[in-house]
Amino acid sequence: MKKTFRLFNLLLLVFTSTAMGVSQTKTIHIDLKKPKTAISPTMYGIFFEDINFGADGGLYAELIKNRSFEFYNHLLGWLPVGGVEIKSTNPCFDRNPNYVQLTFDDQLTGTGLENEGFKGMGVKEGENYLFSFYSRNNRKTALKIKVELIGSNNDIIASKTIEVSGEKWTKYSTNLVSKKSDKQARLRMMLTQTGCADFDHISLFPEKTYKNRPCGLREDLAKALEELKPGLFRFPGGCIVEGTTLATRYQWKNTIGAVENRPVNINRWNYTFDHRRFPDYYQSYGLGFFEYFQLSEDIGAEPLPVLNCGLSCQFENKDDKQHCPADALQPYIDDALDLIEFANGDTTTKWGKMRAELGHPKPFNLKYLAVGNEQWGEPYALRIGSFVKAIRAKYPKIRFVGSSGPYPDGKDFEFGWNEMRRLKADLVDEHYYRSPDWFLKNATRYDNYDRKGPKVFAGEYACHVKTKKNSFEAALCEAAFMTGLERNADIVEMTAYAPLFAHVENWQWRPDLIWFDNLNCVRTPSYYVQQMYASHVGTHALNTLCNGAPLTGQDSLYASSATDKKRGQLILRIANTAKSKQAVRYEIEGLKFGNYKARIIELSQAAPDAENTIDNPNAVVPKEQLIDIDNKNLSFDLKPQSFLTIIIETGKK
Ligand code: AHR
Repeated sequence: MKKTFRLFNLLLLVFTSTAMGVSQTKTIHIDLKKPKTAISPTMYGIFFEDINFGADGGLYAELIKNRSFEFYNHLLGWLPVGGVEIKSTNPCFDRNPNYVQLTFDDQLTGTGLENEGFKGMGVKEGENYLFSFYSRNNRKTALKIKVELIGSNNDIIASKTIEVSGEKWTKYSTNLVSKKSDKQARLRMMLTQTGCADFDHISLFPEKTYKNRPCGLREDLAKALEELKPGLFRFPGGCIVEGTTLATRYQWKNTIGAVENRPVNINRWNYTFDHRRFPDYYQSYGLGFFEYFQLSEDIGAEPLPVLNCGLSCQFENKDDKQHCPADALQPYIDDALDLIEFANGDTTTKWGKMRAELGHPKPFNLKYLAVGNEQWGEPYALRIGSFVKAIRAKYPKIRFVGSSGPYPDGKDFEFGWNEMRRLKADLVDEHYYRSPDWFLKNATRYDNYDRKGPKVFAGEYACHVKTKKNSFEAALCEAAFMTGLERNADIVEMTAYAPLFAHVENWQWRPDLIWFDNLNCVRTPSYYVQQMYASHVGTHALNTLCNGAPLTGQDSLYASSATDKKRGQLILRIANTAKSKQAVRYEIEGLKFGNYKARIIELSQAAPDAENTIDNPNAVVPKEQLIDIDNKNLSFDLKPQSFLTIIIETGKK
């Protein structure tokens, strides 16, 4: 027979509790019968940008770096051996015209290439890797190429021979099964007999990818996104949308269709920070807009593409001449309109047909579109109106997201908001990378926001502690701050932590939500906070009052709550940022006396600087208990520095 506990008793077991050191009990009053405001399903989202090698070398599972020889130094990432030359006459792919020519005559060394991957290639024992390339030669008989995976100890961990022949560019493929796991393998291909041949788009993928899509996404990283249960997926940037120059801005049309012909672009995070330069950081666009829409669908999140507004990065380009003139924006506006058609148009339209040809005849049902990333001042105001007008005229249902610049307050922020009000934008994107103190103080940020204008999209935020690590302290401050998002769900429609991914050896910016190396993935304490919110969004926020006022830091307590009318759940959140335990008691009106199931998810950690690392990925993880409770007045002690989400099964009405 199942045991039924009073929550109070159980929590005495869950949380170490002694009477000593517990402050006076706080009584929190919730009225289930009076839902305050609806919560948008998009409330807790994610923001993906190709920063920190998040796409190439990260989520996009391609293991070869510079597969098309289009980096500025065409052989970057490749170790050439013997007769190796870059050519571009009669190319295989017109938009990626360079290819490599290997000539083996009588040299001692042999001729071939080795690719170093992204700080090596992660391969797993017994797993299958799909190797392919395009080749041509002018011999009458076939030419043998030996392909090998080389382990970090220089041992050969997979090997195959492929024969190529014929004057026409032809695709060749084989598979390699790795004999062992290695984080830093590399790929070697050598001509084994004299001759000459051209090669292009040399590619190596794990066979096993997310949803088993050929040449798709790294399974562990995509799963980490799926398991976060985001309601919104913002992509592809961030600063890469702007580019340092207009020529290097993100152009979505370059990112769809055959991957071989998606023109490679430099990544602006290649050189943005002098102290963290990555000359080998480029965008292959193998993860492009079709894949982004597909991923949104796979993880059940509303897509939110961000497009360039005719401005290159305003930090880098103070001179207006570096931007597209305001009277020459039509190609940019067309890009926005065409994107909506690509996502939603029926298959008789130009771009809807293209989507169908790429394998998705059904519309992606795009509802949101942002134009501009961190834009501010007159340059943005001069341009953005034309976009709004054109989008409204053709697609009145699209919810338009405008920018309020890079900072969460100040002159430019106010100006941006006023412009967005004037233009009747649906949402305004706010960004804040701020200190723990700021996050705690800003738990009330939205309590007095103007309710008449656009809604808020907190599109990029993260708590930055001094060490810039993903510490437990940062996560706890975010959790406390987020009670203010939930409480103000009538004005805050969506949010996203930023940035999302970082490779442990290839990062430019930190903290980040998910870290990874070539084989492992680490979920940070901040990830778990996001997950605790996003897995239980609720349909309506509830008033959560202590002495008649919301708990927004009194005695270091932050609380909010929601009801999920569809699932029949009451969701309580409470963060204790104090270094001592605290006693709380919930009075829940509308919850009839009886037995209830409650799931308690607790994130707590004694050391504020505790973090999860590759070697210790589970130092800070939420702990869960499923219990029965029989009391509508819930009392318990909160651990010092802890955050709880409690889900009570109230049953569907
Ligand atoms: O998230 C990292 C960067 O921060 C984004 O590219 C940009 O929008 C912001 O400045």
